[in-house]
Amino acid sequence: MSFIEARELRKTYTPKGAEPVHALDGLDLSVPQGTITAILGPNGAGKTTAVKVLTTLIVPDSGSATIGGIDVVARPEAIRPIIGVSGQYAAVDENLTGFENLDMVGRLYHLGAKASRARARELIELFELSEAQNRPVKGFSGGMRRRIDLAGALVTRPSVLFLDEPTTGLDPRSRLGMWDIIRSLVDGGTTVLLTTQYLEEADQLADDISVIDTGKVIAKGTADELKASVGGQRVELNLVTADDVVDAVEVLRRFGTVEPAISNDSRTVTVSVESGPEALQLVLGELNVRNVALFDAGMRRPTLDDVFLRLTGHIATTEPGEDTDEADAGARKKTSA
Ligand SMILES: Nc1ncnc2c1ncn2[C@@H]1O[C@H](COP(=O)(O)OP(=O)(O)OP(=O)(O)O)[C@@H](O)[C@H]1O
Ligand SMILES: [Mg+2]
Repeated sequence: MSFIEARELRKTYTPKGAEPVHALDGLDLSVPQGTITAILGPNGAGKTTAVKVLTTLIVPDSGSATIGGIDVVARPEAIRPIIGVSGQYAAVDENLTGFENLDMVGRLYHLGAKASRARARELIELFELSEAQNRPVKGFSGGMRRRIDLAGALVTRPSVLFLDEPTTGLDPRSRLGMWDIIRSLVDGGTTVLLTTQYLEEADQLADDISVIDTGKVIAKGTADELKASVGGQRVELNLVTADDVVDAVEVLRRFGTVEPAISNDSRTVTVSVESGPEALQLVLGELNVRNVALFDAGMRRPTLDDVFLRLTGHIATTEPGEDTDEADAGARKKTSA
């Protein structure tokens, strides 16, 4: 049996005056000891709900989950001492300094004053927060908050760590730093379950990936397996005018391995191909003959959207009522810690 096991987890929210939401709809997970598993999914897929169930913050309607053989629902008090959690929104005391936050966590866990201070100093060092350690957290940047929050989850040296979107909202350099820290934790024997919206992140970190949508696993495998399932490379064209979309689709269809996908504004057309460089050259030649004007053309690797499109027939959508500008809405939502 794996270290973290979830079977058929279900959780339905019924907000007043609204339709019930099946946040978890029969979710299965298994994470072997000492490995990283990523739960990959779009906004509203059920990632945070899954983490909340596994970390005893909420109780599922049905299904079961165990960590190290201990039942999460029946014995939450036995789970809490062995796990660490860094939630989607940093849980820090705004008025305390970075050092005081970590010291406080140690004391809440009854490590004692001396050991708490020593552990706080160690973590400040590990997370390169020395310069900020004596400033109140309310003046911290988003990246610093994430680091102090993860540091807080590590005070007790938990053997299992849950990270809910640990790098959403971080700049590229901070993201790389966070990846290094996560990798070194796993090298030291920690078992990690993390959630992410980025295939790239799952690719970099995870031994195994569970892609989830509407509360259940829709695909599972290594990053290479998932990418292979959606076609290794893609050719993407950005058209100057949507009038050329029919021509562009006809051309891509001849060189692609699947039906080309068209963006909502009919200006971007994408298809997966067997050999990117070869297909791109042929496509450009053919478009030239047809006088199709391009803003941009290129090869790219599959994104989470490609995986979704292939697996579900629809792209990863925002939640009803959310801003339709997904990237923008995501950025706003995620950076406000
Ligand atoms: N307390 C709640 N009350 C009502 N609905 C909820 C509640 N918590 C979550 N939901 C709904 O359950 C679904 C899953 O939410 P969840 O937060 O688990 O998604 P997520 O994958 O973490 O999304 P995100 O990437 O935006 O963090 C969503 O449709 C959400 O609106
Ligand atoms: Mg979430």
